[in-house]
Amino acid sequence: MLPPGPSEPPVVQTARWLLRPIAFMESCRRRYGDSFSVRFVGFSTPMVMVSDPEAIRALYSEREHGLPPGRTVALRPVMGQRSVLLLEGRDHLARRKLMLPPFHGERMQAYESTVRRVAEAEIANWPVGEAFALHPSMQSVTLEVIMSAVFGVTDELRRERLRELLPRLLHDTSSVALQLRVLASRSRGGSDPFAQLRDLIAQIDELLLAEIAERRADSTSGNREDIHSLLAAARFEDGTVMSDGELRDQLVTLLLAGHETTATALAWTVDLLLRHPAALDRLVAEVAEDSEEYLQAVIRESLRLRPVIPLAGRRLARELRTDALELPAGTDVTPAIWLTHTRPQLYPEPYAFRPERFLEQAPTSYGWIPFGGGVRRCLGAAFAELEMRVVLRAILRGRALRSAGPRAERVTRRNVTFSPRHGTRVVAAVTPAVPTAV
Ligand code: HEM
Repeated sequence: MLPPGPSEPPVVQTARWLLRPIAFMESCRRRYGDSFSVRFVGFSTPMVMVSDPEAIRALYSEREHGLPPGRTVALRPVMGQRSVLLLEGRDHLARRKLMLPPFHGERMQAYESTVRRVAEAEIANWPVGEAFALHPSMQSVTLEVIMSAVFGVTDELRRERLRELLPRLLHDTSSVALQLRVLASRSRGGSDPFAQLRDLIAQIDELLLAEIAERRADSTSGNREDIHSLLAAARFEDGTVMSDGELRDQLVTLLLAGHETTATALAWTVDLLLRHPAALDRLVAEVAEDSEEYLQAVIRESLRLRPVIPLAGRRLARELRTDALELPAGTDVTPAIWLTHTRPQLYPEPYAFRPERFLEQAPTSYGWIPFGGGVRRCLGAAFAELEMRVVLRAILRGRALRSAGPRAERVTRRNVTFSPRHGTRVVAAVTPAVPTAV
């Protein structure tokens, strides 16, 4: 039997989820406890949200579970048939095995100087003494980082074209209009919700396939360190390499999975720091001394209190059983990441921003899940954490920031992310360390 949940019609539950997701989940927790079933428009069966680490362990430690149904419908037309994010079972594992080494923690050092260069160039262009939104600026940083460290595009003309086209793709794929078209086509059938994006995708594909062809033809590409070059050279267990079309799918997947998420996490971290002067002062002091420990704790605490991705679910391949739950095969189950991260049993004073808690204890695998878990855990987690460390260091060293408004940012849902409603508006001043960089 599925756990109980709100009895309102799916259209009402969907509206509550879309408009006030945190209030919706919190009210379900108050009424039904750790696990509850919700019903969304376009889904024929309920989705069970769980939040206690025991249920999450049971869910994520079973490799056989499948993808949640919404993921493929919304993403396949853009990411492609062979995207690692969308394949299941053996096909998925084969890609993960091939793609993990370039994302391994130790390899990350190679990208540090690229991220620093991109961040410093962006920060040098910030207005001084005038309010601006940090989130779009962080989006520019993460896009440039992906073009360099992931795609490895060096041709300036091609970069220029991608700089023009990719933000359009990223914008259009996260638009409310597209989501409504996808929902409508799921519940009523009818016209292709992605029709308007086809031409844009074709133009981007042409540029990426040209880049892929050049890489294949370049006999010196073995010396390159970008992720594209490493993936092009990597072999499946049977000795074959990824086809050009598949490489394209994985590159677009890495763009869509890694761009908005990391930019949003950075915007949240700055928002939280500006509201907590003691934590900010300690961080500035530790960064000045090249200490990494507090910076890492700040990032972990920010990802706990403001998880960017709220859900990372599975469709059960077999029954899931814990002391409190018995869910049959075929059920759609997802951790409600926000609810897990605000459990007082795991985090005393759960709504307080207290990076110190991660100096005292390391995050646990099933109680701290901003990157999901198990066999589908975010491939780019180490990359994202490195990027956040380097960008935050560059910001703290280059500029003194203050918030442009009196109130902390509220959470708003932007497509699949929880984002700061006003884009984290800040005012920058040049710090003494960088006298007149602007
Ligand atoms: C703060 C930034 C990020 C957050 C919060 C985040 C979060 C997530 C989450 C929640 C998942 C789903 C995990 C699951 O279902 O268990 C995921 C998957 C994934 N992420 Fe990230 N991500 C971030 C950055 C990145 C970056 C920078 C990249 C690559 C450049 C990336 C690549 C991927 C890929 C390829 C997957 C699919 C893994 C699979 O299905 O096997 N992510 N991410």
